[in-house]
Amino acid sequence: MGLGAVATTTIAGVFAIRKGLAQPIGSLTQMGTIRLGKRTENRSPRIKDFIGLSGLDDLVFGGWDIFAEDCYAAARTAGVLEPSLLDQIRPEMEAIRPMPAVFDQRYVKRLSGPNVKTGKHKKDLAEQLIADIRAFKAQHGCDRLVMVWTGSTEVFMTEAPVHKTLAAFEAGLEASDDAIPSSMIYAYAALKEGIPFANAAPNLTADVPALLELAAQTGAPVAGNDMKTGQTLIKTIIAPGLKARMIGVKGWYSTNILGNRDGEVLDDPESFKTKEESKKSALDYIFQPQLYPELYKDISHVVRINYYPPRGDNKEGWDNIDIVGWLGYPMQLKINFLCRDSILAAPIVLDAALFLDLAKRSGMSGIQEWLSFYFKAPMHAPEVYPEHDLFIQLMKLKNTLRYLKGEELITHLGREYYD
Ligand SMILES: NC(=O)c1ccc[n+]([C@@H]2O[C@H](COP(=O)([O-])OP(=O)(O)OC[C@H]3O[C@@H](n4cnc5c(N)ncnc54)[C@H](O)[C@@H]3O)[C@@H](O)[C@H]2O)c1
Repeated sequence: MGLGAVATTTIAGVFAIRKGLAQPIGSLTQMGTIRLGKRTENRSPRIKDFIGLSGLDDLVFGGWDIFAEDCYAAARTAGVLEPSLLDQIRPEMEAIRPMPAVFDQRYVKRLSGPNVKTGKHKKDLAEQLIADIRAFKAQHGCDRLVMVWTGSTEVFMTEAPVHKTLAAFEAGLEASDDAIPSSMIYAYAALKEGIPFANAAPNLTADVPALLELAAQTGAPVAGNDMKTGQTLIKTIIAPGLKARMIGVKGWYSTNILGNRDGEVLDDPESFKTKEESKKSALDYIFQPQLYPELYKDISHVVRINYYPPRGDNKEGWDNIDIVGWLGYPMQLKINFLCRDSILAAPIVLDAALFLDLAKRSGMSGIQEWLSFYFKAPMHAPEVYPEHDLFIQLMKLKNTLRYLKGEELITHLGREYYD
């Protein structure tokens, strides 16, 4: 839900790839391979063939948005993809019209739109979403569904009493409790129907005990939060490298300019706070300052996002990293990333949806930690810290696939080649 830049770029991409107009670059499910057995065996099938993922030809898309424009018009508004590409998939895109949204401006201050549901209370709105889901499923003859929140970043929220148990949450829906934002109503509707749910944004959504209780009850897998693209992706590539070589870090200053609707929403301090929390957590977990105080204690980590309309979806990020080497000698690393946000997000939204469907078919419910690879603030069990290192995340993901197929897990020990 939320047919904005990320969602329309994902959907248009699938249509374009189906027609042979483009390649699914950036998607592990479509391009990645997985090594099986010993290195001498030369067995490296494509992931999608190995694990039997749903094919792109089998997918049907639908969604909700507060703006009624169809998916083609929404993609033109988002301005990510060239009109010359969109025009080649125009009929398929125009056929997707957003259903009226569950929306309350209290949670996304900078937006308002006309395509919105009304209801007696939040429970009523959740029931309307469930009716939409059932109607969509019947109309398109779908076997299974997956829901991904690609809506705007909502204001910063912390866990409240109403989030503690499913009973409290359902009572809260009837009382239209303020601590239940729109995104949670969608997550509730999906999980109630046993549908896997992913949160591509940083807002507090399915990651509360009440909704995890519901997911366990209905056997629905859950993943989130906030797709790992752009600057944070680069951070979780660079930081593990510095740490692997025990290079110290004194400060990490990150700033961005972007001019899309997401940037406009993030210009509101309350929405930015949600994003900031999500972006800042990665370095602490990767560097483990409690284990390496000489190298990583009290890093000055600053993150800024500036809304700058001329750039549209083409974000520019600058990182200045103050690092320390042998005998305390200071050095600096500068990274200037001219990226396209939604081009980085689309393939991983597709991957997360396909893997969540796999999880559901494999009987795995609740938090899917093996999908941490895709998220800035990965969901995790309360007793463990989240894994942020991109390379550990990838190993975990691939080992989960091997495990599901009864293949030997790969430890990289490799003694057998030398014994
Ligand atoms: N672009 C990226 O690389 C990236 C990366 C990580 C996370 N995200 C997050 O993904 C989300 C989407 O990003 P985007 O660039 O597509 O933003 P966008 O503003 O283009 O799209 C969001 C859409 O959600 C709609 N919306 C908002 N509240 C809604 C509701 N309650 N119900 C239905 N629709 C609703 C808006 O009208 C808009 O069309 C944001 O939260 C963003 O922070 C984006």
